[in-house]
Amino acid sequence: MAPPRGFVFDAYGTLFDVHSVIEAGREITQDPQTLSLTWRQKQLEYTWLRALMGRYEDFWHVTEAALRFAVRRLGIAATEAQLKRLMEAYLSLAAFPEVKPALERLKGSPLAILSNGSPKMLEAAVRSSGLGPYLQHVLSVDAVKTYKPSPAVYALGPKALGVPAGDLLFVSSNAWDVAGAKAAGYRVCWCNRQKAPMEELGFAPDLTVERLDQIPL
Ligand code: LAC
Repeated sequence: MAPPRGFVFDAYGTLFDVHSVIEAGREITQDPQTLSLTWRQKQLEYTWLRALMGRYEDFWHVTEAALRFAVRRLGIAATEAQLKRLMEAYLSLAAFPEVKPALERLKGSPLAILSNGSPKMLEAAVRSSGLGPYLQHVLSVDAVKTYKPSPAVYALGPKALGVPAGDLLFVSSNAWDVAGAKAAGYRVCWCNRQKAPMEELGFAPDLTVERLDQIPL
């Protein structure tokens, strides 16, 4: 198969390490891992629910609503200032250590982010991680006011890069996002950092790696 003519990356958990969000949770709970998992799961649920309801609100609002639900569900007492600090952790994320060298290897082709993140959140994360110089496009679902895995979101990649989805490699660490991108016609690489099982949605990745610097050229 011919090499891909461009690479489209998911953001959170794929390029950006959300570990600092877990660390920020330490201020309000002794079990920041459970808070982080509950928060992340609810954040995704709210994107899917809002997409189905036709009631888009941007990812910053969805993320904040999910945080408020998570602390209530877990019975954690948190002040407004503490919730604000947790939210702000999303604005100063680091990239996983291998991301820069991986993008350096691939940069002969156009590279893009395609994410649920709001433009403001993505801009801040790209800045704090230092990935800006590698990226030709930072694409947010905000352009189509719905969320992954809507085909309308995945269509933003081929449109921006001017390359058909089947000639692009979409890269995500989220198995459901892998299935969504595959269903939308991309070639797909699953960055399975957690050695998770693949979703049972009838779409498999074309290749699986554990780190982004293992993507073949
Ligand atoms: C994103 C989420 C799915 O960046 O990680 O779109």
